Amino acid sequence: EKAGYKHFMLKEIYEQPQAITNTLSGRINAETGEVSIPELNLQGADFDKIDRIFLVACGTSWHAALVAKYWIEKYANIPVDVDIASEFRYRHLLINERVMTIAISQSGETADTLAGIRIAKKMGSKVVTICNVVGSTMTRESDGTVYTHAGPEIGVASTKAFTAQLAALFLFTIYVAQQKKTISKEKGVELGRALIGISSVIEKELPRIQDQISRLIESFYDARDFLFVGRGLSFPIALEGALKLKEISYIHAEGYASGELKHGPIALIDKDMPILALVPQDDVYQKSISNVEEIKARLGRLILIGTEGDTHLQNITDDIIYMPNVHEDMNPIMYTIPAQLLSYEIATRRGCDVDQPRNLAKSVTVE
Ligand code: F6R
Repeated sequence: EKAGYKHFMLKEIYEQPQAITNTLSGRINAETGEVSIPELNLQGADFDKIDRIFLVACGTSWHAALVAKYWIEKYANIPVDVDIASEFRYRHLLINERVMTIAISQSGETADTLAGIRIAKKMGSKVVTICNVVGSTMTRESDGTVYTHAGPEIGVASTKAFTAQLAALFLFTIYVAQQKKTISKEKGVELGRALIGISSVIEKELPRIQDQISRLIESFYDARDFLFVGRGLSFPIALEGALKLKEISYIHAEGYASGELKHGPIALIDKDMPILALVPQDDVYQKSISNVEEIKARLGRLILIGTEGDTHLQNITDDIIYMPNVHEDMNPIMYTIPAQLLSYEIATRRGCDVDQPRNLAKSVTVE
């Protein structure tokens, strides 16, 4: 059942190219860039009536929401609020029929997220669920759905469901931007091709990334604490890396926006504090590099994940994992892979049961 892999989690990490391909299958025309999402039940004029989007989710799915905010605001030109479902449901919400609420949930059964969409719907909001389970409660109660087709996820720590959510959310972004005509035809083709192309890049790179990480973790696996940092589209991936590491290895880990370090957390940095920094060559690269150099000046133990060919990184640390140079909007999907594998390799090196971490359940159906 594990198809030769030692754990479901590793099998599911390797299933990601297929999960993304299945999620996109039949939904993008590679020639014209045109996207169709029939189960969304929304098109053209429906989006003219929307002037705000709420993204509501828990845990890893909330990290997918944080990435989607950047994409939707950039291309579909709609303001997006992101909320943790357990906060959303008890807040004084300013919602009406001009607000769209999107729940993101692998299971479609998470109690807080479900309660959130019930409240939003009562307040007149259109409700959409991004979901991996056909016929789940959230999909039954929503006006529209975007299914991820990651297949069943057995490992308690979410891996392939997360990257499939990112693929579905980028697909949704292109769709809305096309319906609202906020991107050109050419841009639609460019974004569609970038999304379709990411699966084969991940497929090709996975074994190399795992191999390099398994060698690198020998000097990091016994750490007590870990920081993950990133800016822009990499910030939510830093949060996701920290969550993965703490839930399966029990190492205390935190994710930060790189620019926040100097507002407090930099006090933690010394020669015993490992920091994984995501530094793709994107539009905030120069800013990220100056943050990383500040960490280096405080003798932090840096691991850098950056763009292949970026030799400047070698002046900062010897511990570098290079990623291929993909379309910048695909970096969150690409950079999730080393974050997952670092957590997996450290946890297994520490002898942890990665498929069944203590105190955790796959689906949280109670508050
Ligand atoms: C972490 C993890 C959880 C879930 C969260 C939401 O690896 O799996 O944080 O992401 O419990 O679950 P869903 O997406 O089913 O609503």
